Amino acid sequence: MLVSAKEMLDKAKAGHYAVGQFNINNLEWTKAALQTAQECNSPIILGVSEGAGKYMCGFKTVAAMVKAMIETLNITVPVALHLDHGSYDGALACIDAGFSSVMFDGSHYGIDENIEKTKEIIRIAHAQGISVEAEVGAIGGEEDGVIGSGEVADPAECKMIADLGVDMLAAGIGNIHGKYPANWNGLNFDVLAKIQELTGKMPLVLHGGTGIPEDMIKEAISLGVSKINVNTECQLAFADATRKYIEAGKDLQGKGYDPRKLLAPGFDAIKATIKEKMELFGSVDKA
Ligand code: 13P
Repeated sequence: MLVSAKEMLDKAKAGHYAVGQFNINNLEWTKAALQTAQECNSPIILGVSEGAGKYMCGFKTVAAMVKAMIETLNITVPVALHLDHGSYDGALACIDAGFSSVMFDGSHYGIDENIEKTKEIIRIAHAQGISVEAEVGAIGGEEDGVIGSGEVADPAECKMIADLGVDMLAAGIGNIHGKYPANWNGLNFDVLAKIQELTGKMPLVLHGGTGIPEDMIKEAISLGVSKINVNTECQLAFADATRKYIEAGKDLQGKGYDPRKLLAPGFDAIKATIKEKMELFGSVDKA
C-alpha cells in the first residue's frame, strides 16, 4: 500500500520506535526491501536519491516500478516512496511523478531561504497528501554527489522549520553519510534532546544510519528519532555477498552466470540487513 510517510511516522513517534528508510538502486533492491517489509509486517520508506532516480531512468520509472511491485507482490504493509536529499526542482519532479513523500534539503541555503523554499514545497505537496521532510544543519559526508559539511543543527532554527508544518525533520547532530571514521565523536545527544524539547511531537530523522552503534540508535529513538536512513550498509552487504560468489567461481559453474543466480546472494544479503535494522529500530509488527 503506497502511502505518505506522515501517519507511519506519527505512530512511530508515539510508540517510541523508528521506521527505516532504505535507499533503493534498482529492481533487486526494491524487491528485497518490499518483501522484507511484508515478511516483518513493518512499515517501510523507500528512499530515492536524485542520482539513483536518474540511474533508474527517472522518477516516473521508479514510481511506476514501485507501484506495480506493490500490486504484484501483494504488499499490504504501508510503503512510502520518498525523495532523499532533494533539490527544489527535484522535489517538484517527484510530486509530479507520483512519489508519496519528498525531502527538500535546503540545509545548504541560509535559514531564511531554506524557510521560504521549504514552505513552498509544503504548500504544493500537502495539497496532494504528500509528506515533506526538511533539513537543518547539513549531514556530513557525501551521498550521490550531495556533500554536507557535518555541522550540528541550531535547535532554534529546527523549531522555525518545524513550525512551518513539515512532517519530519532531519537535523545534523554529528551524523555522517557512508562509513564513520575511527575518530568519530559520536552523536550529539544534548543537541538532539534540545531539538526534541523545542519541536515536541515532530518525528525527527537520523540520516547516516550505517555503522551507528546499537546503543546510540536506541538512545536516539528514546530522544524522538522516528525515522532512520540506511543506504551504505545495504550496498556493503550486497557487494560482499556478490564478491564471495564470484571469488568462489560460482559464476563459472553450470549457468551460474545467469543474472538471476549471480545477483541472488546480494539480494539475500540486502534482505538480511534490512530485517536486522527493522528489529533494531523496533518497527517489526508495527504495520
Ligand atoms: P548511510 O549511507 O550512511 O546509511 O546514510 C543513508 C542516508 O542518510 C540517506 O539519506
